[in-house]
Amino acid sequence: PPATPQYRPGYHFSPAAHWMNDPNGMVYYEGTYHLFYQYYPDASVWGPMHWGHATSTDLVSWKELPIALFPDSLGYIFSGSAVVDAKNTSGFGKDGKTPLVAIFTHHDPKGEKAGTHTFQNQSLAYSLDAGKTWTKYAGNPMLKNPGIHDFRDPKVSWSEVAKKWIMTLATKDRITFFSSPNLKDWTKESEFGEKLGAHGGVWECPDLFPLTLNGKTHWVLIVNLNPGGPNGGSGTQYFVGSFDGHKFTPLNDKTKWADYGPDNYAGVTWANTGARKIFLGWMSNWEYANQVPTSPWRNATTIPRELGLRQVGSEIYLTSQPVKELAKLSPRPAVVLRNLKASTSAVNLTNRLQFTGDKFSLDLSTAQLRDFALVLSNTAGEELRIGYDAKARQYFVDRRKAGPSGFSTKFAGRHTTPRLATLPAADLTLFFDATSVELFADGGLSTGTELFFPSKPFTAIRLEAPEGMTMQRLAYSQLASPLLK
Ligand code: FRU
Repeated sequence: PPATPQYRPGYHFSPAAHWMNDPNGMVYYEGTYHLFYQYYPDASVWGPMHWGHATSTDLVSWKELPIALFPDSLGYIFSGSAVVDAKNTSGFGKDGKTPLVAIFTHHDPKGEKAGTHTFQNQSLAYSLDAGKTWTKYAGNPMLKNPGIHDFRDPKVSWSEVAKKWIMTLATKDRITFFSSPNLKDWTKESEFGEKLGAHGGVWECPDLFPLTLNGKTHWVLIVNLNPGGPNGGSGTQYFVGSFDGHKFTPLNDKTKWADYGPDNYAGVTWANTGARKIFLGWMSNWEYANQVPTSPWRNATTIPRELGLRQVGSEIYLTSQPVKELAKLSPRPAVVLRNLKASTSAVNLTNRLQFTGDKFSLDLSTAQLRDFALVLSNTAGEELRIGYDAKARQYFVDRRKAGPSGFSTKFAGRHTTPRLATLPAADLTLFFDATSVELFADGGLSTGTELFFPSKPFTAIRLEAPEGMTMQRLAYSQLASPLLK
């Protein structure tokens, strides 16, 4: 297919060419954020999985590096995590060098074809040069499959309580926790979730980490799920609860979603960032990830998001906000409109914002949230609508008319994100990058990520609010494209 440079993201990581899916092995070490990812270097569709590799020192500019892990006789390299083994518990360290250890799933396609249930096993690789080159452990796989068809995506972290490594593993319709003193020998601790949460599909790519709220520590268990997401296909649910080093206990059985949009999947957090938890997802959906009309690459990550907790009523929710480092993308002051009043007729903002380009952010705040829509449009008559439906108490992104969608019957749609905040005042932040919008509302309580593929760039923007609404502030920033050469 012809190249589509107009769809190339300017600040979301994507490999220069070919297929990517899940982020893997995200670890911060010696000033560098490592991002590995499910990568197939021979085509722009899913295939035998490798771990691609990119790094950043600021979470804004990414540099693509040589492939870190190649498939081998044990199979493809599926998703997993990486840790800094500072105490050299694994014994992989040599000459005082700290090992970075990757814990991943070996997926054996032959075993799968033969109809076995043991074709996914957990394995290790380590690096003694700060992530540049990787050596696979001779004892792979170090955690063998007991006969569970879906047995994958290990996320490992050090437990201060257990004084052991804890592995959070997706095992079909539940999470299984394992522990290890040395990353090599693993003991099963407990299972969670067989009867809790959403089960419209297989559980994949989990994560477990603490966050504090008002001085109290809570544990967040992220469980990706495909299909069965809130707007169809892939989705990211989470549970808030406690973890005693052995067992996860949720506060209640309410199903919560880290992102309601269709295009944020397989996200987990960086290891070794201290109390700060930075999340990044794959900005796509298995419903059409193999068909989206980009070339020569296919798929990208979301922006990095800082996670937090917030209480609303008696519920504790996860909040996601763009990491503060992204401010670097807008070195020039934003164009700010104050007390912008919209009524029955739409307000054309194109000239007032000096709206150009397809890479920008918008910050909106209002004292009284009502029905509204921000509408991006182009000269081909296509439009993308983003707004709020007061009656339904939902934010929405409507891409039904935002460009041709013939590549998949699952793509066109109007997707909604419930509003969890209860006060009339609202704030929204939107990040746009060629083919994506990421919506963060009410301090990151409601989040929606969405792709769109207009046949021409959107060059006009208007605000509609049929029942009248005042935006106390609307700030527009054109964003830089550090990833476009
Ligand atoms: C999630 C996933 C993982 C698996 C990987 C394979 O998107 O299906 O469960 O490890 O992708 O590429």
